[in-house]
Amino acid sequence: MTVSHSLMFIAILGLVISLTNAYDPSPLQDFCVAIDDLNGVFVNGRFCKDPRRVNPEDFFFSGLNIPGNTDNQVGSNVTTVNVDQIPGLNTMGISLVRIDYAPYGQNPPHTHPRGSEILVLIKGTLYVGFVSSNQDNNRLFAKVLHPGDVFVFPIGMIHFQVNIGKIPALAFAGLSSQNAGVITIANAVFGSNPLIYPEVLARAFQLDVNIVKELQAKFGSI
Ligand SMILES: *[C@@H]1O[C@H](CO)[C@@H](O)[C@H](O)[C@H]1NC(C)=O
Repeated sequence: MTVSHSLMFIAILGLVISLTNAYDPSPLQDFCVAIDDLNGVFVNGRFCKDPRRVNPEDFFFSGLNIPGNTDNQVGSNVTTVNVDQIPGLNTMGISLVRIDYAPYGQNPPHTHPRGSEILVLIKGTLYVGFVSSNQDNNRLFAKVLHPGDVFVFPIGMIHFQVNIGKIPALAFAGLSSQNAGVITIANAVFGSNPLIYPEVLARAFQLDVNIVKELQAKFGSI
């Protein structure tokens, strides 16, 4: 390898390493507790509180022992503990959720644009899965989970969990982002604001346009 080739190799390696850090950047100080600032300037993440004013409450949340109310259309409830609840999570690249499922309830197909998820089932029986990308032929990776079982949903993949038992189910999950985000597929596609033209979705989903309108009436907010 010549000197210029070695330099190019090092440059490409550096680029690859920086690209692998494309999500929630690592902290550049002990902590960077988020603070609300009303002056209209935004950063990628949150502003940091003066470290001298940081206290234990900034790293604390209480109440994840309380079940969410699953009395809704899908029969599940996600309680999120991210940087909005714990400002000390700012720049840490992690967050947590509690998921409650009514008997036969589900956490419908959705994706997290900014984080992978690792879920542990505490109670009940779940049928879970994710679908890989077009490039991987949209393969379904699915499992039935029992208490103590763990399953991973890779970043960006559409995934779901269904309670297949007749008792409520309970899971906790960690996410590799301070704010992983959620896109629920049915709501985003059929309930966008404003609505996507029904003719567009009829062609995309190979459905009668009246069925699309029916779905839009269900998911649309206006
Ligand atoms: C989830 O549970 C909380 C607490 O009971 C409740 O305030 C919230 O409305 C529920 N969310 C849904 C989508 O049902």
